[in-house]
Amino acid sequence: GKHWTEVGALIDSLKDQEVLIRGRVHTTRPVSGKLAFLVVRDRGFTVQCVVTLNPDYISRQMVKYVASLNRESIVDIVGVVSVPGVAIKGATQQVEVQVRKLYCVNKAMPTLPINIEDAARSEAEIEKALKEGEQLVRVNQDTRLNYRVLDVRTPANQAIFRIQSQVGAIFRQFLLSEGFVEIHTPKLIAGSSEGGSAVFKLDYKGQSACLAQSPQLHKQMSICGDFGRVFEIGPVFRAENSFTHRHLCEFTGLDVEMEIKKHYSEVMDLVDRLFVAMFDTLNEKCKKELEAVAKQYQFESLKYKPKTLRLTFEEGVQMLKDAGVEIDPLGDLSTEAERKLGQLVLEKYDTEFYILHRYPLAVRPFYTMPCHDNPIYSNSFDVFIRGEEIISGAQRVHVPEFLAERAQACGIDVATIATYIDSFRYGAPPHGGLGVGLERVVMLFCGLNNIRKTSLYPRDPLRLAP
Ligand code: 4AD
Repeated sequence: GKHWTEVGALIDSLKDQEVLIRGRVHTTRPVSGKLAFLVVRDRGFTVQCVVTLNPDYISRQMVKYVASLNRESIVDIVGVVSVPGVAIKGATQQVEVQVRKLYCVNKAMPTLPINIEDAARSEAEIEKALKEGEQLVRVNQDTRLNYRVLDVRTPANQAIFRIQSQVGAIFRQFLLSEGFVEIHTPKLIAGSSEGGSAVFKLDYKGQSACLAQSPQLHKQMSICGDFGRVFEIGPVFRAENSFTHRHLCEFTGLDVEMEIKKHYSEVMDLVDRLFVAMFDTLNEKCKKELEAVAKQYQFESLKYKPKTLRLTFEEGVQMLKDAGVEIDPLGDLSTEAERKLGQLVLEKYDTEFYILHRYPLAVRPFYTMPCHDNPIYSNSFDVFIRGEEIISGAQRVHVPEFLAERAQACGIDVATIATYIDSFRYGAPPHGGLGVGLERVVMLFCGLNNIRKTSLYPRDPLRLAP
């Protein structure tokens, strides 16, 4: 009938009280036959537990047993909270637990493939330890991902996935508060939704099908279905053979689609409100998490403005040109050009978050609306954090005949998207929307260098496990 206390809730005010806790064996430190220390960890919080020989509670055998516990084993402990006179190193909680009873619920294997303490070190700490002649193994990315359930136990990783959870929650809450309806579109579809061949093909009971490259077609159809404004959080599948720091074969898409009254800037206005609110909330609500990430992977907090900077593609090209970078004014931006432009924008406008719009039509998907005043360009945009794309969005073509024409011109088999095009024949309002990559938002907000760090179980061309 005793209540459980969470490790993170063990504080001074519980002094002298008996508590029941469950956690993992973080470290053990035998001192003598009469004394052993045990640090217990739960969800990133750690507390030092003291096991002292005591005729009423702790036998010599128990002291020995505690010292021999394998790291990461799950233990239940009944003990009394005490407050030591000095600061406790190596634990997040500044109280101790004087152990009365200890029970191992489930033991971990004696030698683990990843040592959590090593996996939690920053590059600077590793360098220092190596210089001082410490025997230490650098935990490489593949080892981390192979043993992900261990790897995610480090403070930085715990924080990353709490931040990721917040990003999804803020996205959902913000849009619900603005009257958007959350929808769930099928991930098994007949053909490509973005154009291009980067799809995972499969057999659907004798029909050829694929995994959805985006909810693009069905979110637009939902606008035809009179929902006005919709959003979705769901998996997105891309079969492209890219081995980069920012491409996955499966990622989580945050998608939005909405009616437009006059101008595609209404969609950019939404990006502005939504993301400024998101960054403000993250900085406020996830302070501890951001600190934990920064402790292992040094980064500066994101520079952004209360009103998000908007530049046209032409202005961007000009800025690059002025800086001596020649690029095709009607081509897409390379990763390097995007990075460079990010630097130039930071120097000139003091922001690391901005919108680039009016892209050349030729580099955008078939459903993108050309600019009314100059159809070489389009009513589309990309959004960047620290010089890397996190969002792409646009106004869509809502006239069915023109949509079919654009699809054909882009080499798409119109038969595979016939029901989509038909949806626009029954009355369809002007509309636009955007797609955000969740893992990219977290990666770039936290200044991380690889998208695999922000995907819990990443899928890339070589990785299908765990
Ligand atoms: O730029 P993308 O391909 O755009 C679309 O899917 C459109 N349907 C969006 C729209 O509404 N117009 O993907 C949108 C975002 C990108 O900006 C990027 O953040 C992320 O999804 N993304 C990826 N993330 C991880 N791995 C990949 N392979 C990604 N491809 C795109």
